Amino acid sequence: MARVNENFLKLKAGYLFPEIAKRTLEFRRLNPDADIIRLGIGDVTEPLPRSIVSAFKKAVKEMKKKKTFHGYGPEQGYDFLVEKIIENDYRARGVELDKDEIFVSDGSKCDTGNIQELFSVDNVVALEDPVYPVYVDSNVMAGRTGNALSDGRYEGIVYLPCTSENSFNPDLPKENVDIIYLCSPNNPTGATLDRTALTKWVDYARKHESIILFDAAYEAYITDKNLPHSIYEIEGAKEVAIEFRSFSKNAGFTGTRCAFTVVPKNVNANTSNGKKVFLNGLWNRRHCTKFNGVSYPVQRAAEAAYSDEGKQQIRSLIELYLGNARMIREGLASVGFEVYGGVNAPYIWVKLPSGMDSWRFFDKLLNEANVVGTPGAGFGPAGEGYFRLSAFGESKRIELALKRIKEKLKL
Ligand code: MLT
Repeated sequence: MARVNENFLKLKAGYLFPEIAKRTLEFRRLNPDADIIRLGIGDVTEPLPRSIVSAFKKAVKEMKKKKTFHGYGPEQGYDFLVEKIIENDYRARGVELDKDEIFVSDGSKCDTGNIQELFSVDNVVALEDPVYPVYVDSNVMAGRTGNALSDGRYEGIVYLPCTSENSFNPDLPKENVDIIYLCSPNNPTGATLDRTALTKWVDYARKHESIILFDAAYEAYITDKNLPHSIYEIEGAKEVAIEFRSFSKNAGFTGTRCAFTVVPKNVNANTSNGKKVFLNGLWNRRHCTKFNGVSYPVQRAAEAAYSDEGKQQIRSLIELYLGNARMIREGLASVGFEVYGGVNAPYIWVKLPSGMDSWRFFDKLLNEANVVGTPGAGFGPAGEGYFRLSAFGESKRIELALKRIKEKLKL
């Protein structure tokens, strides 16, 4: 008799974004003429940059000819892409990495969800709250937590509240934790960890032999020159941190799929009898077993993101989205909302009027202004009382959304 993994039954609700899509669809069914503006899921809206499309097309043409056809590639990614990553994302910032420390993949969502497989189920996990739901749900599925509690937390997880009181920068845990998820620039709050904050975490991890899982999918949105783009800019991080990067939010690859994970060769964890095991080898073993690499044309397209033309076109995309973020921040502030984020990140984190439940605000915004956003509670209990708006959208539509919020939303 086949039995299910009962850990899945502990999950509180469906995954956040399909749940939002379901509610939006139902609203559309009841209001077929409504002109809905979607600022919910962080999905890019601008097309791929021209230089990337040319590289993509050229690589597809190569696949047409016997002489230039590519079958299975290296699971870890082609050298032509890995070398560009090392040179541009790391060496340019004073970080040296070897080629076999980079693992090209089809997305940071998958990688941040899968990485926990390397760790024993009795590890104690610490998470920022609010947080990208993948980190929580993948640990629930693995059996690293107990049941969901009435306040929305899971037993066994150490939650690190991020609120306006601590400027959305979590304090160190009081207890010992083994695995720490950090995301900067942060999804959903848009906050960033500066050098002092990151150094504090790296020092904690070194002292407690913990591993930091550092999600840097939004690093391209950093405008403040003093902020680190990679955790490896912090001394000692190459011993304790795994970093996740993506081409989704900078080069517009949400539908094209390409990302990479960095597992430095010195990062290690212990067996139950205290023997050190290096995680680079384990991740490589997992990657080769469960993944057959990103397609050749997609990797050629990602490589083009590092050409001079590609870099310039990506910069323009980011400036466009950050311009939208500024518009949202200023528009909401002008009608009295307290707003955070949106300066080094494409997300604006809005404090709701006191006592306003974030799912109730979701329904209100959809019904009164026909605008979709993301309820803060969907990112964790400390997200209750907040709401996330995404800057991915057409500027004119965002302008219209703000006009409707000003004119139609009854608070
Ligand atoms: C979000 O809206 O939080 C993003 O779409 C997350 C993701 O990239 O999966």
